[in-house]
Amino acid sequence: MNLPSPPVRAGDELRLEIADLAFGGRGVARTSGFVVFVKGALPGEVARVRVRRVRPGYAEGECLEVLVSSRDRVAPPCRHFGECGGCDLQHLSRRAQAEAKRLQVKALLQRVAGLEDPPVRAAEPAGEETQYRFRMDFDWGTGPGGRPSLGLHHADRAAEILPIETCLLMPEPVNQIRTLFARRAADSGFSPWDARRRKGLMRRLGIQMARATGEILITLETGRGDPPALQELARAAARAFPRIVGVVRREFDRGDRLAGVSILYGRDHLFENVEGDRFKIPAGAFFQPNATAWAQLREVVAREMETGPGDSVLELYCGVGFFTLPLARRSRQIVALDCSREAVVAARDNAALGGVANARFLCRDAADALPALLEENRFDVVLVDPPRTGLPPAATLALARAAVPRLLYVSCDPGTLARDSKVLSRGGRWCLRSVVTLDLFPQTHHVECVARLERRDN
Ligand SMILES: C[S@@+](CC[C@H](N)C(=O)[O-])C[C@H]1O[C@@H](n2cnc3c(N)ncnc32)[C@H](O)[C@@H]1O
Repeated sequence: MNLPSPPVRAGDELRLEIADLAFGGRGVARTSGFVVFVKGALPGEVARVRVRRVRPGYAEGECLEVLVSSRDRVAPPCRHFGECGGCDLQHLSRRAQAEAKRLQVKALLQRVAGLEDPPVRAAEPAGEETQYRFRMDFDWGTGPGGRPSLGLHHADRAAEILPIETCLLMPEPVNQIRTLFARRAADSGFSPWDARRRKGLMRRLGIQMARATGEILITLETGRGDPPALQELARAAARAFPRIVGVVRREFDRGDRLAGVSILYGRDHLFENVEGDRFKIPAGAFFQPNATAWAQLREVVAREMETGPGDSVLELYCGVGFFTLPLARRSRQIVALDCSREAVVAARDNAALGGVANARFLCRDAADALPALLEENRFDVVLVDPPRTGLPPAATLALARAAVPRLLYVSCDPGTLARDSKVLSRGGRWCLRSVVTLDLFPQTHHVECVARLERRDN
């Protein structure tokens, strides 16, 4: 099919009215019916825009000047806004961010899942606006001018690592810890990761911080090789920041395969308390990222699941048991599954610590385990909380056929939620009853959804 030639060219300067906000945070405008995505512009605004790139079917531009400003525009709190690829919605008020994300979820469910009027509820802001993350990962790589850098990826040049001075997503001493690792690694002559040549020792610095216990756990992702000075770096960090309880090294080969895990200092896990539950969280296991909204997220999931004392629950993608523990207390029994061995081992410990005896944890791949689990048991409700990639097709098909009355789908990617909802509701067996959009990732375009599906033939 030949597309008509675009009405704009790279370098053109245009005056555009911004009609919408695209997933990813860019404003959407049209000129002669042709879509222009405008970085830095908000719905309702009129902007002077320079066209940067023209692609088949759309163009990308940058906002040079806001001529008419949106009532929802605010001053971005972070000095790295615009350059850092991390937080792309800082120029929009908190309330408007949550509403924009709700509308995006609704539009995706309409377009991808084919639902006419998806039951997306009012957006619920969750937790603090900044300093809310439990974990941050900073990458080593090539910064401005080809200099080694430890920071976050540049918004427009993803291969470039922007050296961050202060990241507002986590409280101190996170920035001080990152600065120490950047400086000491450079002083020790450790080579930063070179993505183009695929070599270099220092790849990524992960910092997890428990607020209730105060513990901090560091994960260093590195290439192969064993400079003894790495251990010295870990010890120096722990001396400078006594809250550090462990520094774990994860070694990767040039094909990005995990080639070894070792402890450079202390232990390989930290402890955190959530609503009276004590969680052991290993370095390699997932834990919910918004530390200021943990209680709210668990409350929404419990409310939407409506589990009662007679219910049998199946939980796929359970991690270290974040939802499992409170759900076990509300139900007769729960089978919880995750493919990460360290997460499942920790989940068993966490259940024992919390006095939970009616949870059975399996270390299995969800799609492999699901058919037999559904055949051999009668579950009243299934909870799934997959990674961003959503459910694998085999798992979606098994759930589509499952004789289970309720399915709760916790999703951090509305695109895959919409795709999976389409498969589940095909043939009219499952009906999407409600979607709660929780703004768990303020300042960024990410959003968490808690979707409830019910069997029609139940
Ligand atoms: C978004 S996290 C959710 C974890 C947990 N529900 C929580 O709230 O902490 C996704 C989890 O899925 C697990 N996972 C990823 N792929 C999987 C698979 N194919 N089968 C089973 N579990 C998987 C990961 O180990 C991770 O713990």
